[in-house]
Amino acid sequence: MRQAIAILDSGVGGLTVVKEIMRQLPREKIIYFGDTARTPYGPRPSEEVKKFTEQMVDFLIQFDPKVIIIACNTATAAALDFISQKVSIPVIGVIHPGARAAISATATGHVGVIGTIGTIRSGAYTTALKQLSPYVDVVSHACPALVPLVEQGLFHSETTTRVVKEALQPIQAYSMDCLILGCTHYPFLKETIQEVMGPAVKLISSADETARETSTILYNKGRLATGDETPVHQLFCSGDPQMFQRIASQWLGEQIRQTPVVWQVT
Ligand code: SIN
Repeated sequence: MRQAIAILDSGVGGLTVVKEIMRQLPREKIIYFGDTARTPYGPRPSEEVKKFTEQMVDFLIQFDPKVIIIACNTATAAALDFISQKVSIPVIGVIHPGARAAISATATGHVGVIGTIGTIRSGAYTTALKQLSPYVDVVSHACPALVPLVEQGLFHSETTTRVVKEALQPIQAYSMDCLILGCTHYPFLKETIQEVMGPAVKLISSADETARETSTILYNKGRLATGDETPVHQLFCSGDPQMFQRIASQWLGEQIRQTPVVWQVT
């Protein structure tokens, strides 16, 4: 039986990572869990996020996956080390891949980071960036209003533009040549964020680099899927299944229309 890549998130944000995994590793089966009933995780205490992450991992581990991706920055900051010690398969977070992508993209060394309250408070991006380069200068800012927009499917609207403008206003005065979207929900709002930040600021999503890291780990372990049969993905959520399915179909577009998906709610 083909072992899957398990991916989890507080809601629909991890679908940005799913999309990249489908693109870079089209043979791989994906099992996704989005905790849409308890989103957002960003404002919650770190211990609670750790507990919720553990519950999702306990659910996903029943499917005997070969790797787990914590496709949520808040959960990565709160629980990556804990989960890595708990399970015997590789566990990949999204913060180090995002930091690596920013270091490779910046020319000036001035990097901005936006994320949830939990991610920014943890300082995990600053630590990861400084671990890679002593020359990087980091400005971080929490944008708690953005995740609820995405979970409601409001990717492009007047409200979206107004909320994004207000959220980013405090960091616009800083000089930076790239901005890390330090929450997997934010790529859904990429166009509006780009418009507000201007063309000189490159937006960095950790999804590409996370998919690359997954590919490297599976390759090195000799665990890449083989065979040409189309994988059947399983997508689970804990909240409203119609809303989840609508957002996932809209975001994954052709990829989801071309590949079979089993939709389930726990
Ligand atoms: C959240 O649930 O607040 C956002 C998830 C993330 O940090 O990527």
